[in-house]
Amino acid sequence: MTDTAILPQVERTSHTPINLQAKLALFSEHWSPKVIAEMNDYQFKLVKLQGDFLWHHHQHTDETFLVLEGHLRIDFRDGVVHLSPGEMYIVPKGVEHKPFAADEVHVLLIEPRGVVNTGTETTALTAPNDIWI
Ligand code: NI
Repeated sequence: MTDTAILPQVERTSHTPINLQAKLALFSEHWSPKVIAEMNDYQFKLVKLQGDFLWHHHQHTDETFLVLEGHLRIDFRDGVVHLSPGEMYIVPKGVEHKPFAADEVHVLLIEPRGVVNTGTETTALTAPNDIWI
């Protein structure tokens, strides 16, 4: 399958902005990233998070979290970062992390195509990739 085949044709051919709020309104499940755009080999994914995730790391890439709404905590083995709307953080490649959200948080993830949300772990929280909305 070519790259073009998996992209929504309408967004390839129309001069329409990608509206994050409109995209967020299209889904409600947690911990299941949705692709809204690609730039070269990188994907922009919207995800809604609530509760506790699992400890994991990504062997081959950094991972960017940009918080759009709500408050996200990311635990590390040696510390913690708290993100509010409009704040972003880049988790370095290979660093164990565990996101947590007491209340629902909306996040834009930026990372290379093919990154698995649970890293090297495979659990019930492992989400399918390349789900476009
Ligand atoms: Ni991660």
